[in-house]
Amino acid sequence: MSYLNAADMTGGYGKADILHGCTLSVEKGQIAVIVGPNGAGKSTAMKAVFGMLPLRSGSVTLDGQDITALSPQDRVKMGMGFVPQVNNVFPTMSVEENLEMGAFIRHDDYRATMAQVFDLFPILKDKRRQNAGELSGGQRQQVAVGRALMTQPKLLMLDEPTAGVSPIVMDELFDRIIEVARTGISILMVEQNARQALEIADKGYVLAQGENRYTDTGQALLADPEVRRTFLGG
Ligand SMILES: Nc1ncnc2c1ncn2[C@@H]1O[C@H](COP(=O)(O)OP(=O)(O)O)[C@@H](O)[C@H]1O
Ligand SMILES: [Mg+2]
Repeated sequence: MSYLNAADMTGGYGKADILHGCTLSVEKGQIAVIVGPNGAGKSTAMKAVFGMLPLRSGSVTLDGQDITALSPQDRVKMGMGFVPQVNNVFPTMSVEENLEMGAFIRHDDYRATMAQVFDLFPILKDKRRQNAGELSGGQRQQVAVGRALMTQPKLLMLDEPTAGVSPIVMDELFDRIIEVARTGISILMVEQNARQALEIADKGYVLAQGENRYTDTGQALLADPEVRRTFLGG
């Protein structure tokens, strides 16, 4: 059984279903990437996995435990970390305060974790007293990922972590994400930079209209002529 199993998720906002039997899974320490056109339901699927969307049917298990009925906060306690696509930092708070906010559910000493985040993203240590809103787009994304790491998640969920950053910053961020996965943390990531993300994906999902279209290794999806033509721009 996979570390995360989100099976047959159906649901949406109000009466209209956006997800139609969407299924996602991630193995321990592996990277799973979701790609697909705008409006495909990628962010909605992430919210569903994190418990922010009521499901009409389907289930979510983490490490073999059924968490379908749990609130997002309880899912964080179970080991999920989520970086949403928008509004993922507190712009008027310092970098350090953002990381402290990330540790809100912890009652133990989180300074070692903050040191690990600073090791992963050294620039954040230099800028720890600066407001997150004053940082570059790439640095803000580092704050958002760092904040999620403060709860020591076992599954890290990232919705478009490289949105609006330069190709060089994107490559760097992907390298850091690989580094996080190597520590045994599972990654579930939505990406617009589909080709580059599938390059680093153990498993890839192509989502369209709230449904799974293709599921395979990242390499196999990149090599699939149909996937390339329809979803990767040739
Ligand atoms: N809060 C919301 N309320 C109602 N509809 C929404 C909401 N968020 C997204 N949608 C709709 O759900 C569909 C999927 O959106 P989304 O999951 O954001 O797609 P993606 O992340 O793949 O671009 C779109 O048709 C979008 O308009
Ligand atoms: Mg989205």
